[in-house]
Amino acid sequence: MVNRSVGSHRTLGRIAAAIGLTGAACVTYAAAVEVRWFTLRRATVPVLPRGSDPLKVLHVSDLHLLPRQHRKIDWVRSLSGLEPDLVVNTGDNIAGFDSVPALLTAYGDLLDLPGVFVFGSNDYWSPILKNPALYLLPGDKRHIVPRSPDLPFEPMRAAFTERGWTDLSNAKATLKVNGLRLDFAGVDDPHVMRDDYAAVAGPVDAAADLSVGIAHAPYRRVLDAFVSDGYPLILAGHTHGGQLAVPFYGALVTNCDIDTSRVKGLTTYGAGSRQAQLHVSAGLGTSPFAPVRFCCRPEATLLTLTAR
Ligand SMILES: [Fe+2]
Repeated sequence: MVNRSVGSHRTLGRIAAAIGLTGAACVTYAAAVEVRWFTLRRATVPVLPRGSDPLKVLHVSDLHLLPRQHRKIDWVRSLSGLEPDLVVNTGDNIAGFDSVPALLTAYGDLLDLPGVFVFGSNDYWSPILKNPALYLLPGDKRHIVPRSPDLPFEPMRAAFTERGWTDLSNAKATLKVNGLRLDFAGVDDPHVMRDDYAAVAGPVDAAADLSVGIAHAPYRRVLDAFVSDGYPLILAGHTHGGQLAVPFYGALVTNCDIDTSRVKGLTTYGAGSRQAQLHVSAGLGTSPFAPVRFCCRPEATLLTLTAR
């Protein structure tokens, strides 16, 4: 009996050690490898009028850039080699007070292409240490930040617009790209209650070749409004793809009120009798206080818009 008890204790000890080693290996991989293992995802979206040539749209989001992240800067800078026709930036660009110059270096030649952008909460407020369990718990994630914005979002906005990108923070705009009329409507970040859909509300103009809705955080109230107004394509970021995914299962959270099946990639989103194509970017970064990604590589997306 004594020997059997000692043997079972040894077995339990080995199992515990194996679990501990596996956990440590996963954390090391998530922090040292995957968080810097950038990937380009491609998707085709048939939303253009018949007879249209394909349009290449580069969707970038959630860089959360710090000046020391040279690998990320170089990788993003290389994306201009894809020769996109249009850049869509869905926010959370920076993670520090001194990040804007490095961000402009990262975007590089992309800033000279037609582009549109909205900001996320992390473009306004510097990151703070939070209980990571709050991120994983269900519940209403929206909140009003109880401090004034402290990041240099106005110089960043000016730098983007001076190079030619269009600010869609609670605003509409029309761009002519490759002979196509593209109408856009965007909202400021719904995650921190800065969205003012009333400022852009109204049915899409049938004269446009394509109408696109843009938001940082894909909250349902905003998606529903875009779809109800007839937008056939909506782009968003914010979710980080769940950031920590479970192998063979997927994301546990979206950090907003969409379900985890929409945490990244292209899905069909319906509201009433209408539908839209929703593309959610898993983004390229993380908060500096949670610099880990697991089974959810940091990404940008090249969307090829084609004729319906
Ligand atoms: Fe983010």
